[in-house]
Amino acid sequence: MYLHGTSTINERGHLQIGGCDTTDLAATFGTPLYVMDEELIRKRCREFIQAFRTSGLKFKIAYASKAFCVLAMCRLIDEEELDLDVASDGELYTALQAGFPAERIHLHGSNKTRVELEMALDAGIGCIVVDNLMELELLGSLATEKNKRVNILLRVAPGVEAHTHEYITTGNEDTKFGFDLASGAAFLAVKAVAQYPVFKLLGIHSHIGSQIFEVEGFKLAVDKLITFALQTRDETGIVFQVLNLGGGFGVRYVEGDTPLPITAYVEAITQDIFSVFTSNHYPVPEIQIEPGRSIVGDAGTTLYTVGSIKEIPGIRKYVSINGGLTDNPRPALYQAQYEAMLANRGTEMDEELVTVAGKCCESDTMIRDTRLPRANTGDLLAVSCTGAYTYSMASNYNRYRRPAVVFVKDGTAELVVRRETYLDLINCDVIPVRLRAESLPYRG
Ligand code: LLP
Repeated sequence: MYLHGTSTINERGHLQIGGCDTTDLAATFGTPLYVMDEELIRKRCREFIQAFRTSGLKFKIAYASKAFCVLAMCRLIDEEELDLDVASDGELYTALQAGFPAERIHLHGSNKTRVELEMALDAGIGCIVVDNLMELELLGSLATEKNKRVNILLRVAPGVEAHTHEYITTGNEDTKFGFDLASGAAFLAVKAVAQYPVFKLLGIHSHIGSQIFEVEGFKLAVDKLITFALQTRDETGIVFQVLNLGGGFGVRYVEGDTPLPITAYVEAITQDIFSVFTSNHYPVPEIQIEPGRSIVGDAGTTLYTVGSIKEIPGIRKYVSINGGLTDNPRPALYQAQYEAMLANRGTEMDEELVTVAGKCCESDTMIRDTRLPRANTGDLLAVSCTGAYTYSMASNYNRYRRPAVVFVKDGTAELVVRRETYLDLINCDVIPVRLRAESLPYRG
């Protein structure tokens, strides 16, 4: 298993993250356990900031909270002085409860509800990324009613397809997201915005996909946004102050994944901005991005306990763990690949090819065909690069309780999400009177 960030093998031969021995973490907090390397998260935030500073452009980096959104993470992002992108009322609520400054929150979504828009307006968030005409109309009337001015970006579909898994491609023309550039829908949307004095149109937004390893897609998207900005200025006189290129920067899950350094992505996005805009006598816009996975992905490691081991001679050996698709649905959803190691036996050679099986009652394979030392029941199995889209996509299927999350740093581990209790599992359930068991107190 590749050791990301502060991960090392310590003198006890154990995997250690953030100065904390993972066997101690397992003993203290139980398994499964999501372990987040705080230093690495902060390092990634700073790498993005530094790369933009080098570009000399005005910039804003908003962490895409959908990757991992809990109160402590919002606090950390605030401390690192990034903005925060939320995509739902729940993420917005979390950010506000964390005391994240509303003016640095951006709201996304292809089908925002009235509740979400009202919540955003009432909180006075910094920017709403408007996705379609229905939303524009609804937001316009709500803002008028509430007598609020609102900053907006228009999400455009630039018709760029990033080379990535088809389930996570969102920038081509066949997409539910945003106003199409090619058909002229985006241009009509810009004109429609002018009908509402409550709107301040900051600019445009595009997001071309996720887990992208090449810069070409971003450069193409930048070109399309620039062309659109210049055309819009020439035809309407409207000038965009902001170009937002979304997120999508790849991370290394397994050998063979070849993410570029953060600086390479930022350079590709920013390199032509100054010259193109100045040569067109256009005020150089602020460049915004929204990284999610590349901030938290490789900072996460999930610890599991090995349970049953089944060998089918000549066919396969299954090593079962006490978690699976409920804490990480990505292998099942996207055929995502991960690397693993026995965290309590970090100096031993990999001896055999096994399949790490999840616990759910269905096809639940965490890792097909990975090499490990000969595993025993009770071993601690670590899966790396699980910081993004795991806890945030976790479920209670089979009524498993969602695991705890700890932040580790400088030898200290702090709980940021406690493990769910059995009571949490039934807390929203109601038994109608006619179905209640005589022996139980009425829940309702
Ligand atoms: N901005 C927008 C508008 C987005 O839709 C997304 C992700 C991001 C930013 C952040 O993208 P990132 O930097 O994390 O790639 N559940 C999938 C990923 C879905 C991404 C959806 N949008 C997965 O587990 O791979």
